[in-house]
Amino acid sequence: MKKNQVKPGFSTAAIHTGQEPDPSTGAVTVPIFATSTYVQEELGKNKGYEYARVSNPTRTRLEINLAALEGGTSSHVFASGMAAVTAVTQCFLKQGDHLICGHNVYGGVPRFFNQVMANYGVEFSYVDTSDLDAVKRAMRRNTRIIWVETPTNPLMVLTDIREVARIAHGSGAELVVDNTFMSPYFQRPLDFGADMVMHSTTKFLNGHSDGLGGVIVGTKPIHAEKLAFMQKTSGGILSPFECWLVLRGVKTLAVRMEKHDENGRSTADFLRNHPKVKCVLYPGFSDHPQHALAKRQMTGFGSMITFETGSLKNAKKMLAKVRVCTLAESLGGVETLISHPATMTHAALGEQGRKKIGLTDGMVRISVGIEDLGDLLEDLDKALTAI
Ligand SMILES: Cc1ncc(COP(=O)(O)O)c(C=O)c1O
Repeated sequence: MKKNQVKPGFSTAAIHTGQEPDPSTGAVTVPIFATSTYVQEELGKNKGYEYARVSNPTRTRLEINLAALEGGTSSHVFASGMAAVTAVTQCFLKQGDHLICGHNVYGGVPRFFNQVMANYGVEFSYVDTSDLDAVKRAMRRNTRIIWVETPTNPLMVLTDIREVARIAHGSGAELVVDNTFMSPYFQRPLDFGADMVMHSTTKFLNGHSDGLGGVIVGTKPIHAEKLAFMQKTSGGILSPFECWLVLRGVKTLAVRMEKHDENGRSTADFLRNHPKVKCVLYPGFSDHPQHALAKRQMTGFGSMITFETGSLKNAKKMLAKVRVCTLAESLGGVETLISHPATMTHAALGEQGRKKIGLTDGMVRISVGIEDLGDLLEDLDKALTAI
């Protein structure tokens, strides 16, 4: 597969862009500027920082770094992925506007849209964004944003970013892609025409399951202007310490993603050949219905895999037996996290909602970590054999 063409190279940018030594002390790593305010030498004269809700040097460094990794012109970080979703929708939608959202995105997103934004007169439609005709049919005169997650969680369905961007732009709307699952190392939606990229930095960007965060990467001056205004005005910003954790995490993003991908491929093959597993959803398989699209817009397949154990009883039995894999929500950490979407991340969808998108009670999702492969596969084998 072709590697992302970032200049300087991806790892060089991850380690150095925004991560230059501190000019005032020579500290090689970006300091954590734990301050709520900044001295003014005289009235109106400062060093570019006034109050920490508005801006903070550790945050500035992270925002420079993440904009570079995604190929955007700006980025703004928030206290969690959901705080980033809140910021972008509040910045760019007003009463009477319409947003088209993928019908199988992270459950917290439609919960926020339906239970908060809808109360302010914003309209939402949910469609299968892998079906381009369905996206076209859902477009309205007042559609401002198409919201896509690719691949989706947990069904691993892809959306053609280039084509959906074309549909959005044809009507003056913008495409926002949640790139949490792939990270910019394996997928750069802005290169395919998306207007903004969103991440829960909680996942692969941070990579160590030790901090929440969210980011919106933009491509236009208006994105930067409105999101900076939202940071200042609503205050849901990422703390300097959490910014520092992400700055540290991204330095190893490339090597982590390579290992996640390598372990992911072997785990997917192992699961597919296991007699207790009914089917495996993984875009890296050559017979995955969207494998060609995966190769076009991704440079790796990541480490998110969903497999079918056959029933809720089977899923429960195997999840009780894992020892190396950790039974927990979330994903993208160095440790393998395993979860049961129907009762955990997707419980709020309800039985009918899950049925509609094809999510069964027997499905188990795994975010393959970077442990020794042999230990992981032995653990999964023991757990599956218990079914
Ligand atoms: C794909 C995706 N987007 C957004 C979010 C929300 O991020 P956070 O938990 O950091 O608020 C999650 C959380 O699991 C997610 O998986």
